Amino acid sequence: MRFFTTLMSPCVGGKTGLGRVFAAVSLKIIVINFVAIALAAPSGAQQPSPAPSVPTEAEETAMYKTYKNAPKTSLPAPTAGNMSLETAIRARRSVRSFADKPLKLAQVSQLLLSAYGITQRRGDEDHRSVPSAGAMFPLDLYLLAHHVDSLAPGLYHFQVLDSTLELIKPGDFSEQIHEASNGQSTVGSSPATLIITATYGRITPRYSDRGYQYTHMEVGAVCQNVYLQATSLGLGTCAVGAFDDDAVSRLLELGRRREIPMLVMPVGVPRGE
Ligand SMILES: Cc1cc2nc3c(=O)[nH]c(=O)nc-3n(C[C@H](O)[C@H](O)[C@H](O)COP(=O)(O)O)c2cc1C
Repeated sequence: MRFFTTLMSPCVGGKTGLGRVFAAVSLKIIVINFVAIALAAPSGAQQPSPAPSVPTEAEETAMYKTYKNAPKTSLPAPTAGNMSLETAIRARRSVRSFADKPLKLAQVSQLLLSAYGITQRRGDEDHRSVPSAGAMFPLDLYLLAHHVDSLAPGLYHFQVLDSTLELIKPGDFSEQIHEASNGQSTVGSSPATLIITATYGRITPRYSDRGYQYTHMEVGAVCQNVYLQATSLGLGTCAVGAFDDDAVSRLLELGRRREIPMLVMPVGVPRGE
C-alpha cells in the first residue's frame, strides 16, 4: 500500500508538465507491478493435488480391492477358540478397557477370517463368513496393528482373496485413531484396531438405493462375528460408531468419497483378565 501511495503522489499534485510525465511513468510502473503481482500470486483455483496412493475406482469397486505392490504378510493358521457358540452369544459384551498385552498374529488371523473371510470357493462365487446381498460383498476390513506379535505396527488391508495383510503404511497409529474416534478412551489403548469400510459402488449398480440398506445390514453381520470370535478367543471388542468420518478416511488414506468408514473396533485382552 505504501508502495502504491508513493507512486501515486506525483499524480495527485501533477498539474505541471513535469507532473504529467511523473504521472505517466508512475501509472506505467503501477500497471507493470500489478501484472507481475497477478502472475506471481496463486490464481485462487485449486492446484491439482498429487494422486493418492490408493487403488483406482475400478480397482476399488472390484469384488476384491487390492493394493498393488504392497508388502504382504500371510495370515497363519487361525487359532480356534473352544467356547460353544451359545456360550459366546451369552458372554458377548462391549469391552472398553484393555490389558497391556499383545495380540498373537494367529488371533488376528482368526478374527479377520471369522469377520469376512472366504469359507468356501465355488466357481466364480465365493462364500464368506457372512451373508451378502447378491454376493456383492461391498465391505473391506483394515487392521491398525499397534502391538501384535510378529507383525510390525502399521496400517494393513485385509486381502480376502488370499488371506493376507497388505501393508499400506508402517507406524503406530494408536494416537491418531484415538483422536479420530472423538477421543474415546476405548480406542487407541488396545493392541489392534479393526476398521470396517463400505464401497457402495460395488452393490448399488445392481440394487440401486436398496444397496445402501443391504450394505449396512452386512456391516452388522461382520461386527457380530468380530464380537463372537473375540469372546470365544478370550478377547474383547467394542463397536465404535462415534468417530470423525473425514479423520478416519484420512488415516486409512481412502482419499476419495467412494469408500466410507463404517465401524471402528478395538480388539485386545480385556483389562483385569
Ligand atoms: C452401531 C453401533 C455404534 C456404537 N458406537 C459406540 C461408540 O461410539 N462408543 C461406545 O463406547 N460404544 C458404542 N457402541 C456399543 C454400544 O454402546 C453397546 O453395544 C451397548 O451399550 C450394549 O452393550 P453390550 O454390547 O455390552 O451388550 C456401539 C454399538 C453399535 C451397534
